[in-house]
Amino acid sequence: MAEILVLAAHPQMDHSRVTRTLMRAAAQAAPARTEVRDLYALYPDYFVDADAERAALAGAQLVVWLHPVQWYSMPPLMKLWLDEVFGFGWAYGPGGRALAGKALWLVTSTGGPESSYRPDGYNRYFLDAFLHPYEQTAALTRMRWLPPLALHGAHRASDEAVAAHARVFAERLAAWPDWPELAAADDTPPCDVPADARPAAEDR
Ligand SMILES: Cc1cc2nc3c(=O)[nH]c(=O)nc-3n(C[C@H](O)[C@H](O)[C@H](O)COP(=O)(O)O)c2cc1C
Repeated sequence: MAEILVLAAHPQMDHSRVTRTLMRAAAQAAPARTEVRDLYALYPDYFVDADAERAALAGAQLVVWLHPVQWYSMPPLMKLWLDEVFGFGWAYGPGGRALAGKALWLVTSTGGPESSYRPDGYNRYFLDAFLHPYEQTAALTRMRWLPPLALHGAHRASDEAVAAHARVFAERLAAWPDWPELAAADDTPPCDVPADARPAAEDR
């Protein structure tokens, strides 16, 4: 079982520059302890095998979500993966501790330049503002949310800039778990869903 699990999601990986380059870099950075799962290649029909995904998650300490920002969010198969895999009683809620203590790292890219992700830019908010659902997903599942790695302005980024970004990504993976930000990430707030939040099965 791999210590580092990279879940890559791009609806058109063949046309990707950033995500595809980073996915390849991930496979080479720490190959003995990394598993890379290309979700669109695994599930072209969108039938996510939740058991297989949960098995892949079981041994992982670092879970990486690698995807481009699409409509200020994640690509649809990444969202479906989340819906299917992070179930009540498994990922959260009573007895749902399967992900507790694992680290969640978003590695993403945006078409908009960094200057657009500001109050005075055309995207109006810093990128972090769009990531509250990610951060709270981590908190609800007791994962440690790590500061995301983002490449802005992907449309206009030079090949050298993309390659340099991939090198940073690979170096981070190779250095895992020797990351200074891990200590701060231990402060994940407990967000327990009470046992009576849902009716018992026999009452439904
Ligand atoms: C359907 C779609 C929605 C997108 N939505 C956004 C967005 O909300 N914000 C943004 O900055 N870029 C957006 N983009 C641009 C992508 O983020 C950008 O093309 C991607 O990060 C480049 O990575 P790649 O080379 O792996 O495709 C969108 C692109 C597509 C195709």
